[in-house]
Amino acid sequence: MTELMLALDVLTRAEAMDIAEKTYPYIDAIKIGYPLVLGSGLSVARDLAEFDLPLIADFKVADIPNTNRLIAEHVFEAGFSGIITQGFTGRDSVSACVDVAHNAGGKCYVVTEMSHPGALDFMGEGVAERLAELAVECNADGIIAPATRPERVKALRQIIGSKKILSPGVGAQGGSAEEIAPLIDSMIVGRSIYNSEDPAKAAQSYSCVRDL
Ligand code: C5P
Repeated sequence: MTELMLALDVLTRAEAMDIAEKTYPYIDAIKIGYPLVLGSGLSVARDLAEFDLPLIADFKVADIPNTNRLIAEHVFEAGFSGIITQGFTGRDSVSACVDVAHNAGGKCYVVTEMSHPGALDFMGEGVAERLAELAVECNADGIIAPATRPERVKALRQIIGSKKILSPGVGAQGGSAEEIAPLIDSMIVGRSIYNSEDPAKAAQSYSCVRDL
């Protein structure tokens, strides 16, 4: 089964609660990051907890191990169940996030290759494979890999085996839900749901990925 994760990149608590209220029956998890947290404060995580869904902090953490640890501790104390970290900062920095996550009973996912065109300037073939290997070595729970490049997701799957692949890039960035769903564990969709005239209907249509 491929889960559907809502990327809730709206800017206010009111908008976030409104979209979550409309879509929660059709989604399996919510991901929030800088747009919403900078707009509404970290406490929005407690408000979103009312929907009783896994809540992932997409801060793409990318600092020295001590700073990563401090960030991750804030995240899990705030009520998140997972965190996304960059991998390029290296083994010790990734391990810091993984350790805090696992001590809190949460999950840690490592970005291997981003979904936008510019990602290929530095993070394409070769580098992404090394980052996926690092995610395995650090005992992370999974990776972030691009729905915009299914062939890359297939290559990264060879490295991470049964660890989770969370994949953004469907819809607004041009990726196809039908093509990517069978290759991944969780499809991340943002604008195509929260900017839709009918977010519930849009979420429902994407939720069909579970059966693909
Ligand atoms: O609006 P859209 O569906 O393009 O949202 C995709 C979400 O996934 C955004 O929150 C974006 O920051 C995030 N993301 C991404 N590519 C990555 C990692 C995260 O698009 N590699």
